[in-house]
Amino acid sequence: MKGILLALAFVCGLMCVKAQAQLNLIPAPVEYSARSGCISSKEMAGLHEKVRISQKTLLRLLKGRKLEDWQLKSAYQLELGKKGVKIVAADEEGVFYARQTLRMMASLNSSVTCCTILDWPRLRYRGVMLDESRHFQGKDFVMKQLEMMALLKMNRFHFHLVDNPGWRVQIDSYPKLTRLTAWRPQAYFWDWEKNEIGGPFVEEGTPGAYGGYYTKQDIADILSFANERHIEVIPEIEMPGHNYETRAAYPELACSLPGGGKDPWELCPGKERTFEFLEKVLLEVFDMFHSQYIHIGGDEARKNNWKVCPDCQARMKAEGLKSVEELQSYMIRRMERFAHEHGKRIIGWDEILQGGLAPDATVMSWHGIEAGLQAVKEGHDVIFTPTHYYYLDYHQDPAQFRAVGRHVPLEKVYSFEPLSESISEADAHHVLGVQGNLWTEHVQDAWHAEMMLYPRVFAIAETGWSQAEKKNWPDFERRASALSQVARKWGYTVYPPDSTRPREGCD
Ligand code: ACM
Ligand code: ZN
Repeated sequence: MKGILLALAFVCGLMCVKAQAQLNLIPAPVEYSARSGCISSKEMAGLHEKVRISQKTLLRLLKGRKLEDWQLKSAYQLELGKKGVKIVAADEEGVFYARQTLRMMASLNSSVTCCTILDWPRLRYRGVMLDESRHFQGKDFVMKQLEMMALLKMNRFHFHLVDNPGWRVQIDSYPKLTRLTAWRPQAYFWDWEKNEIGGPFVEEGTPGAYGGYYTKQDIADILSFANERHIEVIPEIEMPGHNYETRAAYPELACSLPGGGKDPWELCPGKERTFEFLEKVLLEVFDMFHSQYIHIGGDEARKNNWKVCPDCQARMKAEGLKSVEELQSYMIRRMERFAHEHGKRIIGWDEILQGGLAPDATVMSWHGIEAGLQAVKEGHDVIFTPTHYYYLDYHQDPAQFRAVGRHVPLEKVYSFEPLSESISEADAHHVLGVQGNLWTEHVQDAWHAEMMLYPRVFAIAETGWSQAEKKNWPDFERRASALSQVARKWGYTVYPPDSTRPREGCD
């Protein structure tokens, strides 16, 4: 009998060692130590949980390691034993992340080794951006992605709600935005836009029209779902470029030129009416969203109209502005003052550096990292989302259908280091974090959008959360493959997609 028990203990020990060798967590935790024994994932579901929220206890467990306040808020220690799990955290947020760790362990392994994990994030902003203007997915899709983000301990969802091909959020003071420009005859973006000129919109209710928008109730539902998962939703209201749809609904917001000027996208910063529009829209957006930040866009304004528009020229003269870049900067600074008056801070794409950066603006560095480095030098906060690493509309495989021509495979995404050597230790706090951007010119269907997101978002999550020295490509590749399999079982489309998936819509 004793022999049988010993043999059983040996077999169980081997299983545990195997489970330990396959700790599949993404993002990798700061400290992991295996303890004796293991527990089946089924048992984990009913395990007794003891939670202690106490900063003092957590600090004792950290043994003198100095964390920033925002790190302490997310930090946790969990002890998984055969009889139960103990969680210590300084805040509910840490408890939430401990539970995500347990959820991931139970999902990835049939047998989980008893262990102690001590963990906290490296960067405070770990984000995903979704472009809902070019193609519209809607509330259920967004919530499904928020669920995956939470599992990955990501905490910012940048909601790109308005752009040339469609306005996607209810604004009561300007109802034509959604009635006239949230719908179009063609579903696929490239069938609608030809040679950089947008196509027609059609009125809400037109039979066969493609489009949609979020009502205020939809936004409230999404926010409540996100809040429960400790994710801040940051809305983006684009200005002054990328406003083809706004001008279709309210042509008086374009420059005082025939047809609103040659450039089809820009608002006129010469007119007071434009500021009245933006302020009224933002007031409603501030009421809907509780985020600390509002993203004001700022990218790719061509500014040619402004050089010849009498209103823009008059504004430049009155304000002593020497260039159209300074005119853009005037507009962004003015919108920043308005945001401050309402307790908000602004984020803008890196073009907001042109003509002088607004005093408190956070820069989203997308052309590369140089703009971000310049902003850090000027004492501004930065979020890195460089095209060559984090643009998720770029393809993962040269044969992939409907994607932008650059190759951004998983390993490339994983290789990005946000705290480059040229950022001094004293300036490192200005690097808020990282974000993957899914632009959807080419991405019409929900399954396609997910295939572009995953598994690359797993890599961004690990870069945002895990300590740099914990990153290890071969090990991550193995873990990403394990998580991809589980995500597919949960109904996510993960690249490479299941070969049985219909390939309709492929180029
Ligand atoms: C951008 O890709 N235009 C921010
Ligand atoms: Zn103008």
